[in-house]
Amino acid sequence: MLSAEQRQHFDRDGYVLLPQQLSAADRAALIDRAYELIESAEIDPNVRFSTVDREHLNNDFFLGSAEKVRCFFEEKAFNDAGELAQPRAQSINKIGHALHDLDEVYREVAQRSVFGDIARDLGQQQPSLYQTMVIFKQPRIGGEVVWHQDASFFYTEPSSVLTYWFALEDATLENGCLWLDPGGQTGPLRERYHCDGKEMWMVPLDATPWPTDSGTPMPVKAGDLLVFHGHLPHYSAANRSARSRLALTFHVVDGALPYAPENWLQRPTLGPFLM
Ligand code: FE2
Repeated sequence: MLSAEQRQHFDRDGYVLLPQQLSAADRAALIDRAYELIESAEIDPNVRFSTVDREHLNNDFFLGSAEKVRCFFEEKAFNDAGELAQPRAQSINKIGHALHDLDEVYREVAQRSVFGDIARDLGQQQPSLYQTMVIFKQPRIGGEVVWHQDASFFYTEPSSVLTYWFALEDATLENGCLWLDPGGQTGPLRERYHCDGKEMWMVPLDATPWPTDSGTPMPVKAGDLLVFHGHLPHYSAANRSARSRLALTFHVVDGALPYAPENWLQRPTLGPFLM
């Protein structure tokens, strides 16, 4: 249950920091499981994840991951000969996107009533978990995530998506913590990611510039949870340090609202995951 102060903070700044929502034991279980999934995964070397170049996303492996658990390589994981330049476990950008449905360890966390209550406290009628990702931000090769708003990918009218960003490890300026634009959630949605069949592309909606020079870094401790508004611009720098920066994210949409058929992530088989 969020306090009145926490709700006011969210309304004003577009985010709220909830310290220590995952225990050390939770984090260890989630991280261990993530590395097990990497070792056992079938990995398509042609699918590398980059927010700078989304061209590679036009393929079945990505679209099919909406209802599967799949691993995506870092853009810079390969050498010039096309071979992994470091062990597999340190080459993965992220795992997504139905971990909360298909993996017991992740499902147990996603089902905790405390997390559904946060979305209800922030105004959602039927909190529905659409997407879970483990984001690795690997040492030295962890890529930048350019400024964006998550509502671009989870379009509802009115906008409803909330992002839960759990630090599985300490996130620092050195290893690529999040940067936010406090108050920026009151601005317009700048673009929308549109999917038609197997084609995906970004549709510009509003020319408001990104807060490139005015973001606020959000270093957080392992176990902390940042919850933020779907219109809140955010960014994270590349990780050039020697330490990884694992995070777990949930994208929670109000299931009481129509979910746009143009959103890339659809769940025709799994259906809604109510929190
Ligand atoms: Fe995001």
